[in-house]
Amino acid sequence: MRILVTGGAGFIGSHFVRELLSGAYPHWENARTVVLDKLTYAGNPANLAPVADDPNLTFVQGDICDPVVVDDLMRDVDLVVHFAAESHVDRSIADASAFVRTNVQGTFTLLEAAVRAGVGRFVHVSTDEVYGSIEHGAWAEDQPLSPNSPYAATKAASDHLALAFHRTHGLPVCVTRCSNNYGPYQYPEKVIPLFATNLLDGLTVPLYGDGRNSRDWLHVDDHCRGIQLVASKGRPGEVYHIGGGTELSNAELTARLLDICGADATAVRRVPDRKGHDLRYCLDISKITAELGYAPRTGFAEGIAETVEWYRTHRDWWEPLKATPPGTT
Ligand SMILES: NC(=O)c1ccc[n+]([C@@H]2O[C@H](COP(=O)([O-])OP(=O)(O)OC[C@H]3O[C@@H](n4cnc5c(N)ncnc54)[C@H](O)[C@@H]3O)[C@@H](O)[C@H]2O)c1
Repeated sequence: MRILVTGGAGFIGSHFVRELLSGAYPHWENARTVVLDKLTYAGNPANLAPVADDPNLTFVQGDICDPVVVDDLMRDVDLVVHFAAESHVDRSIADASAFVRTNVQGTFTLLEAAVRAGVGRFVHVSTDEVYGSIEHGAWAEDQPLSPNSPYAATKAASDHLALAFHRTHGLPVCVTRCSNNYGPYQYPEKVIPLFATNLLDGLTVPLYGDGRNSRDWLHVDDHCRGIQLVASKGRPGEVYHIGGGTELSNAELTARLLDICGADATAVRRVPDRKGHDLRYCLDISKITAELGYAPRTGFAEGIAETVEWYRTHRDWWEPLKATPPGTT
């Protein structure tokens, strides 16, 4: 079995690769894994350090938009798991050009190469943000897409392309859409690692607007197990939701982090709301539960405490990232 993982040096992709190579996924114990990652500011070789010497891992630094590199790596591949993306909403509001290039053109390049190579399965990793915002209830997989941020719009475009390649070319594509992930090795621009590391340093945390925006939180390990189930047993041409089952407003999430880090409300700095900030996302996960037996395993209280503890004990990982923000070197 040969698996191509794009974006495998990022937060979620590296978790998937570390788990895969440590034998966590049934029947894939001896899979040969190729990681293709451009190593943007969000990609970090340190994320793969625990498995760097594994003989089943090959790391290739390269761009998913480069058809020569992609064609070469796609040969003899049984499964593609496509994580690579520009992933930070705030950056897409400031300048979306890299999002259009990587998320749309890059996904298209991979899909074309996958058709040419006749790969056995292509899992496209996407997000609940493609649906827009929902005040009450939960989205099912057939909900029309209505993205609001430039990030979400590029992910929606890539979802449409992936499903079109299934319908048009018969490529065995599955699309996964998940809620907000948290866990170790997440770049400290995203809310949980940013707030946790600020609080561990005795700094304030910037809370957007009135703090009412609400998200479902999914531990990265549960997300990756869901992706593995879809890759193994999902029906081609289908979309599967992967959620964590803990819905919190940003104010509630902040209160949990203050509590774990031993800080109080004086550490919270209110900042103007994000432009076009979606109020609420909520996924119905009954399809993946019924068809593939998925259920989140990590309770939020336990998962968030372990996550903060990881940042507390891995300053060597995040301090250099916060000391040299992207664009300053
Ligand atoms: N983090 C979340 O909460 C979340 C939620 C829903 C969906 N997702 C999706 O999951 C996937 C992974 O997210 P993440 O949080 O791990 O992102 P991340 O930003 O941590 O990692 C992205 C990785 O992709 C690589 N990359 C970027 N552009 C590339 C290119 N042109 N060619 C090759 N590699 C490139 C980066 O170097 C990095 O290693 C993304 O597709 C994202 O849209 C993430």
